[in-house]
Amino acid sequence: MARIYLSPPHLSGRELDYLEDAVDSNWIAPLGPHVEAFEAELAQQAGVDHALALSSGTAALHLALVVLGIGAGDEVACSSLTFSASANPIRYVGASPVFIDAAPETWTLDPELLGRALAERKIAAVVAVDLYGQCCDYDAVRAVCDRHGVPLVQDAAESLGATYKDQPSGGQGDVAVFSFNGNKVITTSGGGALLSNDGDRIAHARKLSTQAREPAAHYEHTELGFNYRLSNLLAAVGRAQLEVLPERVAARRRINRRYRELLPAVEVMPEAAYGTSNCWLTCILVDDPERIRLALEAEDIESRPLWKPMHLQPFFREAPVYGGAVSAGLFERGLCLPSGSALSDADQQRIAEIVRGAL
Ligand SMILES: Cc1ncc(COP(=O)(O)O)c(C=O)c1O
Repeated sequence: MARIYLSPPHLSGRELDYLEDAVDSNWIAPLGPHVEAFEAELAQQAGVDHALALSSGTAALHLALVVLGIGAGDEVACSSLTFSASANPIRYVGASPVFIDAAPETWTLDPELLGRALAERKIAAVVAVDLYGQCCDYDAVRAVCDRHGVPLVQDAAESLGATYKDQPSGGQGDVAVFSFNGNKVITTSGGGALLSNDGDRIAHARKLSTQAREPAAHYEHTELGFNYRLSNLLAAVGRAQLEVLPERVAARRRINRRYRELLPAVEVMPEAAYGTSNCWLTCILVDDPERIRLALEAEDIESRPLWKPMHLQPFFREAPVYGGAVSAGLFERGLCLPSGSALSDADQQRIAEIVRGAL
């Protein structure tokens, strides 16, 4: 039996058509017609005016902070319960993170703790992370940010295709970031995007992503540049993937529902009433997640602990934290189950049986 991965790529069948077109047209570069079309389609998907296709979600977060003017000496508030890529770009620009705990009812950024941090410190920006496919409570987060005049970065790397109050994920921040890493709901193998209604910010990020070249025939530079654009080949893959996003989200939501049926005694990550999660990963809470992880691994099935909160990471040990016990408790008890949109019902039943046995 083949290994069952946590969240493997799921091709639509149209990727090769788009790739063939890219090859035939000789647009084998980090620009081209597929990049432009992918950007337009992403902006439409997120309900925002502008999108910039980039080499990763991490690059998008880095440029988000740069175009917001965040730099050395600044403090940036960031969800603690997340992947390190949400927080590392804060350090790339010379700023320092201040971590904010999760709200127990959503597992995402706690708006009350965020309010406390913003009242007590001079915070230059907020990075709010949509966790495992679920958006933050953006009305509450936005209200806190607006009260203090602080820009909001939506790390929507995990929430493409989710909704917040009937609006697609990606339009809730001043800028938002998607990831198309191989493990996401759709993938370009590696890739990301920066989105915003602010055309000037996206234009600035676009310039920075292409080595900050000024519009001159010779190579003229007035600021620090990066090489962060997405390849036309990968954008071609992304377009084929984006076409099937609704089906992929529906499949992950179905898998989430099925886990709830198969494991009725097990606590599953709550879905907030304010939106629909894309159910990127189904996460459960149990007393001994490592025992279940090992039982699954013995059957060649991949599962994974929840993100270890950033305030518990040795690298960020000096960063201030507001709260911390909620995400620490979730980390202790949490496990992400295989959730790929191509997971078969038979495989899911087998996974559930192993989980039940280990419990
Ligand atoms: C919450 C979050 N932020 C940022 C990233 C970074 O995206 P990428 O891997 O495309 O750099 C990821 C995923 O990898 C993520 O899960």
